[in-house]
Amino acid sequence: KARLAILLSGRGSNMVALVNAVQTGVLQGLAEVAVVFSNKPDAPGLATAAAMGCPTASLNSQGRKRAEFDAEVVEVLQAYQPDYVVLAGYMRILSPTFIRAFVGRILNIHPADTHQHQGLHAYEWAFENQLPETKITVHLVDEGLDTGPILAQQPVSLRGADTLAEVERRGLAVEHFLYAHTLAQLIQEKPLTHPEAGASVAPVAHSALLS
Ligand code: GAR
Repeated sequence: KARLAILLSGRGSNMVALVNAVQTGVLQGLAEVAVVFSNKPDAPGLATAAAMGCPTASLNSQGRKRAEFDAEVVEVLQAYQPDYVVLAGYMRILSPTFIRAFVGRILNIHPADTHQHQGLHAYEWAFENQLPETKITVHLVDEGLDTGPILAQQPVSLRGADTLAEVERRGLAVEHFLYAHTLAQLIQEKPLTHPEAGASVAPVAHSALLS
């Protein structure tokens, strides 16, 4: 089974969807949760993860220098021997030290097309610009902000969504499906259909990690 380290900073609804997929859904028999980690010890998602039976760990990033903090996070995560590092609302830019420790094995979900929008507040951006649709994106993480190769994308219609809450409700439903589904494809080495998948930085196949 592929060992997942799930990283979050807040609510953790994507973490919940992933844990559910591991326990009773598309990731059952394919993956296990090695650890749920947070850079915020009081993140609500961390308590939720513990209540769902997941091992948890945290280090407080407040006031810490990025490279130093990330070196400590890498050490903590490596103790859990993750195959994939799955960012689920982990609101920090990762330093090169972190990326190199898990190159090709760090995934992120972004609530917009990463070629059109990067960083925070993607749902607000879609809502304020009255976009007819947005695209939920799962991508590999590289050293830029939301710049890594896209593994999967799914459009969400925003027609008739007249509040930000409705935009988020529609988007999150797709996020929760797409993240687990994409991980399942990756772990089973099924082809990812997005043209960027496997282009510049190929994701590391799970079988390659089993030596
Ligand atoms: C999600 O919408 C996720 O896509 C987004 O933060 C939210 C976390 O919610 N991530 C980003 O904006 C990354 N740039 P959650 O804690 O309920 O999963």
